[in-house]
Amino acid sequence: MTSLPDIHRLQGTADLLPAESFQWAEAERVIRATMFRFGFGEIRFPVLEPTELFARGTGASTDIVQKEMYTLVDRGGRSLTLRPEGTPSVVRAYLEENLGSQRPVWKLFYLGPMFRAERPQKGRYRQFHQFGAEMIGAASPESDVELIALARTILHDLGLTGLRLQLNSIGSPAARHDHSEKLRAFLRQPDVYAKIDEDCRRRMETNPLRVFDCKNEECIRIMRHAPTIDQFLTAEDQDHFARVRSGLESLGISYELDPRMVRGLDYYTRTTFEFKTDLLGAQDTVCGGGRYDLLVETFGGPATPAVGFASGIERILAAAQEAGASQGTLPRLDVFVGALGDQARALIPSILARLRGLGFSADSDFLGRGLKAQMKEANRLAARLVLIVGDDEITRGQFTLRRMDEGGQAEIPADLAQWNKETFA
Ligand code: HAM
Repeated sequence: MTSLPDIHRLQGTADLLPAESFQWAEAERVIRATMFRFGFGEIRFPVLEPTELFARGTGASTDIVQKEMYTLVDRGGRSLTLRPEGTPSVVRAYLEENLGSQRPVWKLFYLGPMFRAERPQKGRYRQFHQFGAEMIGAASPESDVELIALARTILHDLGLTGLRLQLNSIGSPAARHDHSEKLRAFLRQPDVYAKIDEDCRRRMETNPLRVFDCKNEECIRIMRHAPTIDQFLTAEDQDHFARVRSGLESLGISYELDPRMVRGLDYYTRTTFEFKTDLLGAQDTVCGGGRYDLLVETFGGPATPAVGFASGIERILAAAQEAGASQGTLPRLDVFVGALGDQARALIPSILARLRGLGFSADSDFLGRGLKAQMKEANRLAARLVLIVGDDEITRGQFTLRRMDEGGQAEIPADLAQWNKETFA
């Protein structure tokens, strides 16, 4: 009988047990391998950062900053926040480590936990994990295409097919300024204003673009009639966007244009994109990103264009499973050492050390149980070989090696020094 502890894990967080952790490690291996293939290097930055980093970087008008940050005050009275996303930290590190002076373009990726106090539901957690990539220093439309291609390749490599790429350009600040004016005028119309919720009335003042993010059915319905950004793009914005689209087309990457996709973060300029899946229900965005040409300047750096994306690992693994990817299983054990008798049991540590030294995974029963229980344990571990060591075998100078798949068995010398890799091939 198991009893529950009197302290529970927090809502929206998870414990990953070995089989699942192994599947995660595999996914992380695939992600790193593809990132390296595209010339991106890994950056690891703190989980805890000054609150100001996100207030200014992610943006004061965003839901993340308004309601979803885990913020605490440390002993020195400083406000700190568990990172809700990675982009502001990468930009902070870029400036703090003076990377811009070393070379013109940096291609960085990261993997790790992020924290948002959202209402937990399937696909939406309070501690979730992202991998993301940021290219800092390049303004060209081809760099947008490169990032979209990178995201798509990783998602494919992880077993996700049938994704929809949604694409938009939210233009330069000049375009957004004009658009925001028109949006505000639209939202202020009495019949519209009466129908939008409190949050959207606030958003209308701080950043009317955010009203496109609202999940409220009535607001979504109203926003179908709102002016969209595509009507306000400058000639340069239009040219950039046209080149992103033709770059995607030349790679055979299909996309849907969505002029209402503004993304939930304040730093975007021009290209924004999301990859969606039909396999997950409401939380269907597996990846989101875009260009953010002004963020480096926001933190006091020189004018430095940038583009990036981030993707939720929980959602990707859930979607891959729906798409038929196999459930995580642990790797098989190479050799299980079954011991019978006190003399044999005393030999176990050196036998295990020898096997592991030869490069095999090796395990044993540490409970002093009988052969039947030990064989059951060997089966549970999917052992390829079982080495049987009994007091009789020790006297004979020969151990028995049983092949679990084919069913045969052989005798091997009890002298460990005579063993080599072939002995257990
Ligand atoms: P985001 O759209 O906030 O963008 O998050 C990116 C992805 O993280 C989402 O598409 C989703 O897959 C996953 N995600 C977000 N929140 C949760 C949650 N509560 N539970 C599970 N998964 C979640 C960013 O974070 C930007 N930093 C992306 C970026 C990088 N833009 C430019 N560079």
